[in-house]
Amino acid sequence: MSKGRGRGHCMLEVSGLEAGYGASQVLFGIDLTINAGEVVTLLGRNGMGKSTTVHSIMGLLSPAGGDIRFEGQSVCGQSPYAIARLGLGLVPEGRQIFPNLTVRENLLATAVAGKKTAHRDSFDMPRVLSLFPSLQRRLDNMGNQLSGGEQQMLAIARALMTNPRLLILDEATEGLAPMVRQQIWRVLSLLKGAGQAILLIDKNINALLRIGDRHYMVEKGRNVWEGDSKALRSAQTQRRRYLGV
Ligand SMILES: Nc1ncnc2c1ncn2[C@@H]1O[C@H](COP(=O)(O)OP(=O)(O)OP(=O)(O)O)[C@@H](O)[C@H]1O
Ligand SMILES: [Mg+2]
Repeated sequence: MSKGRGRGHCMLEVSGLEAGYGASQVLFGIDLTINAGEVVTLLGRNGMGKSTTVHSIMGLLSPAGGDIRFEGQSVCGQSPYAIARLGLGLVPEGRQIFPNLTVRENLLATAVAGKKTAHRDSFDMPRVLSLFPSLQRRLDNMGNQLSGGEQQMLAIARALMTNPRLLILDEATEGLAPMVRQQIWRVLSLLKGAGQAILLIDKNINALLRIGDRHYMVEKGRNVWEGDSKALRSAQTQRRRYLGV
């Protein structure tokens, strides 16, 4: 296991991950790596175990087998709070913002929980708001007064305020208007350009082909395919079989 901290070193290593809910096993040995500065995607049809994988990584679900290492250290058995402090930030499925706090309060609430990372520029309120100008105008509005798109931007902005070394987005563009989606893809491209490591789950394969460096397909809790964007473009048989696109 490399201990190096340079660009391109292995940041997250998931190996043989098994997990489930009570007696029902959902993951049967998922393998996944993410290197510093990489954008990696997790692809698969509904119910194949993508969110379960992400919840295991974040410590929201205890793995039944295998290992999850972040920066060389096993995070299995650590609390979600401890894992977040190590530098993992999740934008969960379904925009979980605080509805009864203002936009400003939503942002400050996670900034306190977050940790400054010394190895690159850290996010603060001005930098995050420069990525999402529409939130700037809504700072004093309550979370529940925002549009769906604004709520999703706030969810991403909140995750960024924790200065994650690895940002994980689970269906961040789901159910949003095309213009808002474009805005989110633009922000993610900017973050990638700044060297942010990202794990993406999304249904928009074309956007993933553009922004992703490497891709994993999962089916019924198992890896079935992996490759870079060039390989994914030509993997038409697997795309049809495992993604339906
Ligand atoms: N809290 C839970 N309790 C019991 N079963 C669950 C729970 N959450 C998910 N499952 C089951 O685990 C399996 C994998 O679900 P998961 O949410 O990981 O899929 P997914 O790939 O994220 O799907 P989607 O694309 O619909 O978000 C599904 O069969 C689902 O019904
Ligand atoms: Mg899911």
